[in-house]
Amino acid sequence: MRKSLLALAIGCIALPFGLAAQSNVNLPQDKGPNSVNVSAYPADQQKNYKVFVDKCAKCHTIARPINTSMTKDEWSRYVKRMMHKPNSGISDTQGKAIFEFLAYDQEQRKDKNPKAFFKALSDEEIEKLKAGGN
Ligand code: HEC
Repeated sequence: MRKSLLALAIGCIALPFGLAAQSNVNLPQDKGPNSVNVSAYPADQQKNYKVFVDKCAKCHTIARPINTSMTKDEWSRYVKRMMHKPNSGISDTQGKAIFEFLAYDQEQRKDKNPKAFFKALSDEEIEKLKAGGN
């Protein structure tokens, strides 16, 4: 009982600070599969995949990027955008590895089967989902 009260108190204090960038909305792509079978990918892409899984699941489920389809240019911009979020904890080298993986995976897996993936939502669409109490 005391422990849970303490956890609650810490949560209330920590939330507005450290976790400010935590995604607080569920997007349609969050519900899809949360892993990629990379066993047939080249060794360096398998390494990049590990960085991606490690770094891009901090604020939302890893299913979000796994089930989102974008062009390479959009991924490049998007990885930078995520890197610049407060407390993202992603270095330039890691960002580059993550982009390499996303670009390769886009071509290998997503572009071949576009209907299975979600297009990125616009900021307006995300705001609407948030306002809807999602
Ligand atoms: C610091 C927190 C944080 C980290 C780390 C992070 N994201 Fe995000 N991500 C967000 C937030 C916030 C949103 C916007 C939606 C929202 O407000 O919930 C988002 C949205 C997304 C979307 C949805 C795009 C759309 O418009 O439909 C994708 C894809 C995504 N992130 C990919 C990534 C990738 C790839 C990484 C790793 C490079 C990553 N995220 C790391 C916080 C983060």
